[in-house]
Amino acid sequence: MPTKSKKKLNKADHYNDPTHNYLRYWDGREYEHAAEELAIARLLKGKTFKKAVDVGGGYGRLSVFLRNFADEVTLAEPSQQQLDIAKEYLKDKPKVISKLAQAEDLPFKDSEVDLVLVVRVLHHLPDPMPAFEEINRVLKKDGYFLIEFANNAHFKNRLKYASKLQGVPVDPVDIRSAANRRDDEIPFVNHNPKTVRKQLAQAGFKLEATLSASNFRSSTFKKFFGKKALLRLEKLTQKPLAKTHFGPSTVYLLRKVA
Ligand SMILES: C[S@@+](CC[C@H](N)C(=O)[O-])C[C@H]1O[C@@H](n2cnc3c(N)ncnc32)[C@H](O)[C@@H]1O
Repeated sequence: MPTKSKKKLNKADHYNDPTHNYLRYWDGREYEHAAEELAIARLLKGKTFKKAVDVGGGYGRLSVFLRNFADEVTLAEPSQQQLDIAKEYLKDKPKVISKLAQAEDLPFKDSEVDLVLVVRVLHHLPDPMPAFEEINRVLKKDGYFLIEFANNAHFKNRLKYASKLQGVPVDPVDIRSAANRRDDEIPFVNHNPKTVRKQLAQAGFKLEATLSASNFRSSTFKKFFGKKALLRLEKLTQKPLAKTHFGPSTVYLLRKVA
């Protein structure tokens, strides 16, 4: 196991704010939701697991989907409000265990888990190392880690930086507006995939596969093409566009090797 860096706990206050319902955030984002499920299904195709954990799983949007691949799924989520929403959302769905927990301090023994899923959480972790190390600890040797994160090197951003004669920053970029940039607010950052890959390797993971997801995330595309056509295009492009990190969302499948 690699040496551990110091654990720093993050707040999840944004997700405990009663005026913010993350379930409703997904209204109108059916294409993005389906694109993420498509990527997960592709990367886990033919694999089965005993014990999977959806870390930072919110109200369980993808925990349910994980049940297609795992006998037992735990939703490990630090926001009580999300878990309250989950209680209702998961009521009539395949069983998911819920636990109040965060990525840096997971309620599992060493090597107890064979799959960890982390989707849309990394933008709250400017320094993801403590979380990566903790995920490494709970995973068994050769266990799988599937992570999705907001990619700062996507095509549109690369054009933006190139027009200013700049390269894409290697450090996480704060994407909050000036009004929301408070020290006591949960961070929102986009990561450079090159940096994330280095951090994952340092935490003891080997990259097995990459997909580029939500490649056509645009209200104009959604309006003109509709979900069905966009998903067909998404299916065709997730693999070929992965090499260039084209889309706003990068998905990695990794294995614990150290
Ligand atoms: C954008 S939501 C994504 C939820 C879910 N993964 C999904 O894709 O539907 C981000 C989630 O990360 C959680 N979160 C924030 N900080 C975290 C941390 N340090 N460890 C684990 N989860 C965290 C939040 O409480 C929130 O539920």
